[in-house]
Amino acid sequence: MAELPNHVTAALRRLPAPACAYLYDTQALRDRAATLRAALPDNTRFLYAVKANGHPDVVRTLAQVCDGLEVASLGELRLATDAGARRIAFAGPGKTDAELAAAVTAGALLNVESTHELHRLAGLGLQTDICIRVNRTGTGLTGSHTMTGIATPFGVDETQLPALLADIPPGLNVIGFHLHAVSNNLDGAAHAAFLTDAITWSIGTAQKHGIGLRVINAGGGFGIDYESGDSIDLTPLAAVTVPDGLELLLEPGRYLAADAGWYAAEVLDLKTTHGRVFAVLRGGTHHFRLPAAWGYSHPFTVLPVDTWDRPYPRPAVTDAEVDAVGELCTPRDVLTRGHPVTHLRVGDLLVFARAGAYGWDISHHDFLRHDPPDFLIL
Ligand SMILES: Cc1ncc(COP(=O)(O)O)c(C=O)c1O
Repeated sequence: MAELPNHVTAALRRLPAPACAYLYDTQALRDRAATLRAALPDNTRFLYAVKANGHPDVVRTLAQVCDGLEVASLGELRLATDAGARRIAFAGPGKTDAELAAAVTAGALLNVESTHELHRLAGLGLQTDICIRVNRTGTGLTGSHTMTGIATPFGVDETQLPALLADIPPGLNVIGFHLHAVSNNLDGAAHAAFLTDAITWSIGTAQKHGIGLRVINAGGGFGIDYESGDSIDLTPLAAVTVPDGLELLLEPGRYLAADAGWYAAEVLDLKTTHGRVFAVLRGGTHHFRLPAAWGYSHPFTVLPVDTWDRPYPRPAVTDAEVDAVGELCTPRDVLTRGHPVTHLRVGDLLVFARAGAYGWDISHHDFLRHDPPDFLIL
């Protein structure tokens, strides 16, 4: 089990009972951004993908230490401008007219996802630089969410690209391609090969179609392994060559934010039914849906709370395998199955590390209308 940093433990111990909170550590965000920057080749910049965690303090912190922010809605665009983002890129398969107009007004670089979107941009009278998002064939990347090389709503097929590029409406200037392929890739060498291939393909395609190529946006996708505790090894990226005059843009979300967040929930009940031990939490998948959405067990650390001032016995288990479940009335409200604990009592906290990305932001908060967690920002 991962050790909890002392400052995280101290902050969680100050929570009012029954404890339920997300904790985000802004210094951890800054440190992670510095680690990433040091691993990247020349002529490469990175925009934090706000969708991973749109808490305003997280967005503000990362706006200061990343080269910009990647957004995918009007709400995220507002967060990014409020945070003072130096640069903004806007992607997403279903942009409204209002989003297209606001993105251009904010000076965001639009990633255009279809011929129809191109026509709508022109129809709105908008004049701007754009990248075309392409669903390429065979990127060779594996991960949790594959977005290219298969049928998805993202971008245009390579086969449709020539027709699209031959008919760019006046006022719109194609400066590059957006090639986000996958989420949570754990293979650093494969990611480096993907970047090199993205650069080569973009240069060749731009030459063929007479495009003044400036930007190759290879998206996000740097992975972390929740169950083993590993992260992608970024060292192979240093060997990628980005020719002068071109800019490689990356849009990491998970890699920047996951390790800067912890989700903590107090054990409200401990019980055994049909031979399984359940720790029922003040919290659950309505706050932290990622394990249920992806179908894995998220590891936790027990933070013991010794105080017990009730006049009745304190439920406890020793040397047991425990299922960590939430307060919702559904058997799917499961964060972890069969996690070994040496000792666990009602009133102790379970702390889930690596919860800073796609945790609160992807969860169904209103189901059953429980109070939200506290948010602690360090
Ligand atoms: C266009 C785009 N960019 C960046 C990201 C961030 O990906 P990740 O958090 O895997 O780095 C996503 C995630 O879905 C995305 O769709």
